[in-house]
Amino acid sequence: MSVMKNNLDEQQSISYHAEILANRVSKRFAHLSKKFSRQNIECFRLYDWDIPEVRAVVDWYAGHVVVGEYVHKQSLPDWLPQMAEAVGNALKVPLELVHIKRRQTKVEEGLRYSKMGSQNERLEVKENDLKFWVNLDDFLDTGLFSDHRDTRSMIRKLAAGKDFLNLYGYTGTFSCAAALGGCQSTVTVDRSATYLKWAEDNFKLNGITTDSKHIFERFDVEKYLIHAAREKYKFTLAFVDPPSFFKDHEQERSFDVDRDHPQLLQQVLKVMVPDSFVFFSTNHQRFTPKFDGLKVQGLTEITAKTIPEDYRNKQIHRCWKMIAI
Ligand SMILES: C[S@@+](CC[C@H](N)C(=O)[O-])C[C@H]1O[C@@H](n2cnc3c(N)ncnc32)[C@H](O)[C@@H]1O
Repeated sequence: MSVMKNNLDEQQSISYHAEILANRVSKRFAHLSKKFSRQNIECFRLYDWDIPEVRAVVDWYAGHVVVGEYVHKQSLPDWLPQMAEAVGNALKVPLELVHIKRRQTKVEEGLRYSKMGSQNERLEVKENDLKFWVNLDDFLDTGLFSDHRDTRSMIRKLAAGKDFLNLYGYTGTFSCAAALGGCQSTVTVDRSATYLKWAEDNFKLNGITTDSKHIFERFDVEKYLIHAAREKYKFTLAFVDPPSFFKDHEQERSFDVDRDHPQLLQQVLKVMVPDSFVFFSTNHQRFTPKFDGLKVQGLTEITAKTIPEDYRNKQIHRCWKMIAI
């Protein structure tokens, strides 16, 4: 009897969550889709864990929807599929275009950037006049971080004539923005061959010729910075967006952005020309900046300007701009 009652309670609570999520998402879509379509923006966030008990994020990708659950101990196996169905119905998106993802809130090595499946279907999406490939099924992240849409615009506006260094460059979205902004050169550094190939594909998609002006370096960032300092490479604009945590199994060391950012930034500043801008960003949710002693002449937190309006979590990332001495 009590098992039946529990099942009934669970089903009632899932149905209730589905209803409130569907309502919220359709209202947000009505508001945001008009506004973003005028700006030619096809990827945006519709639900950002707005209601504490509905632990989901919902993102729009050019007619597809990605519904993610922040899993926890009491997560029910039926919860996410039912949220996905409710969102699909509310937005009139066929269920084959609704993608689901289970996310951990804890940062755990191997989960955030590992490959999940192998459907290998990619989709072209627009962000203003930029275009990017996304993959909504095979990885936990899709290839495009929309929370940095406005930061990409900032970099693009500053890029003319610059030599741009993109560290932990992932799929090269910032490098594409800098290239279209007229920079002189880009170096995109990442340790993953898969993401660097994806970055090159993004360049091609945007009609940017990947010649010697635009270089993709498969390197551990720390090692790259040692190499760049030794070779006396110099940059005039940089974007540094490390993962919160990673393990380097070869060297048996780990990186924790909260602990290790001062050393990383010191290394970055060594390859920057005086008066050049370095943007540093993290999505670590309990980050304590330790910038004392950095050789910079100006350091400003610009998070309020870099979080787009569709994100409820106004600290989904934090971002600083500093000027090298
Ligand atoms: C936080 S993302 C960077 C997001 C990117 N800046 C963007 O907004 O599109 C993480 C990236 O860091 C790369 N990465 C992780 N550890 C690395 C390391 N030690 N050296 C170089 N790249 C690394 C991963 O392969 C992944 O592409």
